[in-house]
This record gives sequence, C-alpha cells and structure tokens, in this order.
Amino acid sequence: MTIDFGRDFSFGVATASYQIEGGVREGGRGPSIWDTFAHTPGKTFGGDTGDVACDHFHRWDQDLDLMAELGVDAYRLSIAWPRIQADGRGSPNPAGLDFYSRLIDGLLARGIAPFVTAYHWDLPQALEDDGGWLNRDTAYRFADYVDVVARVLGDRVTWWAPLNEPWCVAMLGYAAGQHAPGRTSAAAGVRASHHLNLAHGLAVSALRSRVGGQVGAVVNLHQFYPAGDSDDDLAACARGDAIGNWIYTDPILRGVYDPLTLETTGAVSDWAYLVDGDLDICHQPLDFLGINYYTPNWVGPGVGPAEPNPWPGARDIHWLPARAPMTDQGWTIEPQGLTDLLVRVHQRYPELPFLITENGAAMADQVVDGQVHDSGRIDYIAAHLRAVAAARQQGVPVGGYFVWSFLDNFEWSQGYSQRLGLVRVEYDTQARIWKDSATWYQQLLRTRQLVD
Ligand code: FCB
Repeated sequence: MTIDFGRDFSFGVATASYQIEGGVREGGRGPSIWDTFAHTPGKTFGGDTGDVACDHFHRWDQDLDLMAELGVDAYRLSIAWPRIQADGRGSPNPAGLDFYSRLIDGLLARGIAPFVTAYHWDLPQALEDDGGWLNRDTAYRFADYVDVVARVLGDRVTWWAPLNEPWCVAMLGYAAGQHAPGRTSAAAGVRASHHLNLAHGLAVSALRSRVGGQVGAVVNLHQFYPAGDSDDDLAACARGDAIGNWIYTDPILRGVYDPLTLETTGAVSDWAYLVDGDLDICHQPLDFLGINYYTPNWVGPGVGPAEPNPWPGARDIHWLPARAPMTDQGWTIEPQGLTDLLVRVHQRYPELPFLITENGAAMADQVVDGQVHDSGRIDYIAAHLRAVAAARQQGVPVGGYFVWSFLDNFEWSQGYSQRLGLVRVEYDTQARIWKDSATWYQQLLRTRQLVD
C-alpha cells in the first residue's frame, strides 16, 4: 500500500552537539560533563571521546550542503551550553553564539527549517561541580542560558525544545551511571528528574517571551508490553509508565505527579525537594510534544533489575530480555510499539500535536566498493514510518518525523562502535559516504510517498 504523507508533514534529520561537533577546546568552549566522562577510563567503548567526533565544528558548511542534497524539510540540532557559557553562567561567549547563528543562517539559506534543542546532555562541568541536576539552582542557570540563546536566535528558529530526553539525563546519568556524570544513586535519579522538569518550565517561560516559533518538549517515551496476561503483568506496565514516562510528561503537561509515580519512587526518594508552586512552573502551555522512539520493553512481576539501574523504586518489575530481530545496539525492532505508544500517549494528552523527533537504527554497515548497502536501516525507517501512518489513521496528530541520525556519530558510552547515520563518517579521514538509506530517504522526500 502506498502511503502519501503530503506536503504538510515535515521530514527531517537529527543530531546533537557533543556527538558531532568536536572542536571541544575551540571558540571559547568550556568543558562539559561528557568531556570529563568520556576521558575517564572505562566509561566509553574503547575510551572513545567527542574531542573530534565528525569535526562538524569545522565542516558544518559542507555538511549543510549534504543535508540540502538530501532534501530534508527540517534539521534538529542541539546547542552546546558550554560554547555559550563556558562555566554555565554569566556573560555569553560571542564566538559560541556566532557559530550557531551562522549555522541557522546556513540552514535558512538552504530552505531547511531549524529545530533547536537547548540541552542534549552537555552540561557545563562547572555546574556539575556544584551538584549538577541535583542542585535546584541548575534549573535557574539553564533558564538564563536559554534566554541568552533565544535573544540571539529567537526570530529564526521554527521549533524549540529545552531538553532532550530527561529520562536519559536523570536515570542514565544519575541513577544508573551509564551516562555522564556517572552517578549511581536511585534517589539522585528522581531528584534530578524533578529539577529537569522545573528547568523545562522555567526555560519555556523564557522562550515564550522571546521567540516566534513553536515551543515544545522532547521526551523518550517507553512502550511497555505485559510479559503475560495477569493483573500483575499489567501492574508492572503501569509502574513502568509511572517512573519511565509520566514522571516527565505529567508535570509539564498536567502540572501533577501521578500518585503511582510518587508511590513507586517514594521507596527511594523522599521528594523533599518538591517545593510548593513548582508544579505550576513546570506546567507551561506547549505547542507540540516531540517523542523519541526506538524499541519497546516487555515487563512483568518479579525481581527488579540489579542495582544500579535506571528504574528507581522498580523492585518488583521484571524486565524481559530484548527479542530478535534487533539492531546492532541490541534493541528489539518492533514498529508496532511506535503505533501503540502514540495511540495511548494521545489518549492521555489529546490536546497536543506530536512530532517524532528521533527514530533510527544502528546497523553493522560495511563499505563495499565505496558504497554502503544498508537495506536493514531502510527497512527499519520504512516500517516505523508506516507505524506513524497507522497512528495518524487512528486520529493521532503526528506532524513530522526526524531520522536519527544525519551522520554516524559518537554514540555516548558506546563511542564510535555504533553507526546510526544516513551518511557514513570515516573517522580517520572525515570522509562522508552517502549510504543507500540516504538515497532512499532523498527519494521519499521528493515524492512524499512511501511505496511498497
Ligand atoms: C537517544 C539520544 C540520541 C542518540 C540515540 C541513539 O537516546 O537522544 O542522542 O544517541 O538515542
């Protein structure tokens, strides 16, 4: 069956600053928690760091040419906070602002709509030294930084999101320790979550007074399936939702924490940092919700994952192992999970339009005669676009889709071992190689039609 997405649907690609830029000691940039973490022995695959990454800091102009050739409507990028404020506070660094200003102008000159994420995980190290997201003050520093950026870029950006994936920031960074800053306390994960929700609300207020574009949020939401059909299986899913999803979406979209969120996380955190009036700050009107989706989870009753883990209080939720087929990252490929997730998130928050702000697949790409025949990635993206279309047919308002990622890049603790780009990067020469998936996406963007 042919699916016609039409002209109103936005097709894009996405990246993030630390994953592609390199140039970490240039242009007045200060160190971020990811510089520190990646340079700590044993934290990333093979000791890989983002020091050079895709060298996009120097090659951005050619990279935008490639993007224009791809024919995307939109590009989701993130701004490195330590390029704007080296230590996370105080007067802005003109060179940093200028870099992003030129980048945005380069996009507009090529007819590509910019989507700016203010924080894709590169917290200035100086703020982490003061407690990072465990310190309430970081939320206020973040709003100041967003205000600075909005003042300079405000009139040129189509979509704004303060934070990328607060679950990863809080739970992988502070509870499980798999990401920077590498703390391993369940209580810290919950506390950081609340400060991120607060930071979101403060930043949205700052953006509203400065920008003309749409203002939203980007969250990675988990699709939970019950391992069996008992009430206990369903209860495990509900708890998973409470601590993995609604802990972020309810405060920002409803101004509440679900009682099950408070009960489950209450086993590890006293919530003393939830101050009167905070939920009103978190809850600001939004124009869209950006959803990042890669894979679903199957859960049931039983013993929770070993400590440290990213699921604070989940002592009676048992996670089943991933199932085949999987991506190179070992993530189950299940496009139906995206349809099911969109339908139920729409039921919970029916007033908001959605964008798929990330979706894509790591594959063990090979270069053969200068080409990359990544049919697995094409299949993955096509299947997930069909899943989006199925949700739209059921009335879910999804207005766009961004492939993660434009380029192969630094995949956090997995370093350069995972390739998710439409365009391959040869890290020793910085050569860019157009994969088959790029040609396929280019064709899709021309026709706006997904053909069997
Ligand atoms: C998401 C991140 C993104 C990328 C993909 C694979 O969680 O937002 O930076 O690493 O996963």
